[in-house]
Amino acid sequence: MTSRTDSDVTLIGLGLMGTALAGALLGEGHRTTVWNRTAAKAEELVTQGALLADSVECALQASPVVVTCVSDYASLQQVLTPVADRLGGRVLVNLSSGDSEQAREMARWSEDRGAAYLDGAIMAVPPTIGTAAAVILLSGPETAFTMHQSIFDALGTTAYLGEDHGLSALYDVAGMSMMWGVLNAWLQGVALLSTAGVDAASYTPFAAQLAQETVGWLAGYADQVDRGTYPPDDATLDTHAGGMTHLIEESERLGVNAELPRLFKALVDRAIAVAQGGRSYPVLIEQLAQPHATSR
Ligand SMILES: NC(=O)c1ccc[n+]([C@@H]2O[C@H](COP(=O)([O-])OP(=O)(O)OC[C@H]3O[C@@H](n4cnc5c(N)ncnc54)[C@H](OP(=O)(O)O)[C@@H]3O)[C@@H](O)[C@H]2O)c1
Repeated sequence: MTSRTDSDVTLIGLGLMGTALAGALLGEGHRTTVWNRTAAKAEELVTQGALLADSVECALQASPVVVTCVSDYASLQQVLTPVADRLGGRVLVNLSSGDSEQAREMARWSEDRGAAYLDGAIMAVPPTIGTAAAVILLSGPETAFTMHQSIFDALGTTAYLGEDHGLSALYDVAGMSMMWGVLNAWLQGVALLSTAGVDAASYTPFAAQLAQETVGWLAGYADQVDRGTYPPDDATLDTHAGGMTHLIEESERLGVNAELPRLFKALVDRAIAVAQGGRSYPVLIEQLAQPHATSR
């Protein structure tokens, strides 16, 4: 029998994502032990060289690093709680999705049982796992990350975010906000143009160009947010408010849903009500960085 090494890894959870993760680990030559509640899902991986553990306990004992990818944190607790006393000395890397508080709570729970804990977010779909296109965010103790980086690099492009276990989940939801913001804004435009017989394909190159230009503003605006000063170098919030009124009125006149632009305008109006109309757009962070936007 080959002796165990630090690059040995256990993968718990063989759904669509876990199966892809295990395949990538095997592809990079890691001795990979797998466990899944429904054992039959491991059959294909076993033909590729995976070792199937009979129990969660055996799976934990097989490797110094244990990667988990089940539906959610509740499922993860169901898997790990009965074997909690076997976690000591392991590096537990949870790639199941959740929020930052669940990640921090899981970290406390794992560390109380003697395990180092890394929390991760997968910004990718299963077919891209194992390629550079699969971005995997990790946060938690840096020593655990660097010591086992070859395992994470086998899965895709890994980014270590820092010691706070909640950071990967926070980046994950922030990324989703970005994605849906862009998609909803594009669909609003598609709906408007459709009233003039312009199809989505015709509008989309223009939309993509504008989206790219807008993305180009972000670094400068980030600097304003970080400094807390909003000089109106390009356009004031008052000017933006005027444009939003055109968007709302045009949408309403054409029978297109105006809820989204009305939401943008409501935030801008609140900022203007507290004398911020002469500042630049990112001053809206003061409305967004609190639970309920207010007109102080
Ligand atoms: N698929 C994606 O594109 C994608 C992308 C990014 C992140 N993720 C995240 O990756 C995680 C897994 O996603 P997936 O697509 O692989 O989901 P999936 O195909 O539905 O697989 C779910 C996995 O969780 C296991 N599981 C669920 N409840 C369990 C329990 N109570 N006890 C033990 N095992 C349990 C399932 O075991 P059984 O096989 O026995 O049912 C299965 O292995 C999720 O948190 C998801 O948000 C997925």
